[in-house]
Amino acid sequence: MQLIEKIKKLKKEKNAVILAHNYQIPDVQDIADYVGDSLGLSIHASKTDAAVIVFCGVYFMAETAKILSPQKTVLIPDPNAGCPMADMITADQLRALKAQHPGAKVLCYVNTTAEVKAECDLGCTSSNALQLVRDAFREDEEIIFVPDKYLANYVSTQVGRTFIAWKGFCPTHARILPEAIEEQERLHPEAEVMVHPECMPGVIAVADKVLSTGGMCAYARESASKEFIVGTEVGILHRLRLENPGKKFYPASELAVCPNMKRTTLEKVLWSLEGMTHEITVPEDVISRARRSIERMLNYT
Ligand code: 13P
Ligand code: SF4
Repeated sequence: MQLIEKIKKLKKEKNAVILAHNYQIPDVQDIADYVGDSLGLSIHASKTDAAVIVFCGVYFMAETAKILSPQKTVLIPDPNAGCPMADMITADQLRALKAQHPGAKVLCYVNTTAEVKAECDLGCTSSNALQLVRDAFREDEEIIFVPDKYLANYVSTQVGRTFIAWKGFCPTHARILPEAIEEQERLHPEAEVMVHPECMPGVIAVADKVLSTGGMCAYARESASKEFIVGTEVGILHRLRLENPGKKFYPASELAVCPNMKRTTLEKVLWSLEGMTHEITVPEDVISRARRSIERMLNYT
């Protein structure tokens, strides 16, 4: 039996659903029941009727699914698929920062570990950060924003307030340089430039649109433009091209590859279902503390 047929059969037998992030390899995106951005994946994980979630993404995303659906079995096909940005702040470091700013509220990007989420008041993703900062905090409140300094900087410039920001960043998005975008613009003068808010300020400055990966997929569908320069991890190009056969998509940089997102393969998805590995476990007290901030995050869609 072919790999894909085996996966489909096991998925049915185990009452499993396969969720995949927009940066996954094409084969994995193609067998998933849902492909999306962090917010869309969190919503799906919280609503699914399946007993088992096979999460094709990075560790913090699977952990978030477990926090939202603790009664379900959440599997990650490769447990070494981490997110270097999420690992740039520990719960101890955040506790120390909070101690320096006792009155501040803590906002965490979803790209954080469960222990860090448990220390926060509210979570956000790249698709709801702007609305959430505008609506969820009083004007006079101090806000600690972790861990992405570039996302914090982008939100800060858009909403006109400052944050106590951690100095984390995404090494993959840091590979996208303004010069590379300008070069692509020279080659494709009609193209619109869409970039992710994890990009550096110089890249944001030359973009037409700043969007989450899900926002890019929606915008590409709606826009009258026929060509786009895409400033995020290159895995998203598969979905953009599949959904928009009449349009052209150019990566801002071929170097924007997240090695952790590429760890998941069809074979690993099959082994995951066969052996019910690798199961995500989060201590109960961490789940209950982290859940408040993540459930609140889902109110801003
Ligand atoms: P999105 O939520 O926009 O998909 O971003 C997730 C991520 O890890 C970007 O690097
Ligand atoms: Fe983390 Fe960056 Fe990879 Fe997203 S692209 S999972 S932020 S390392």
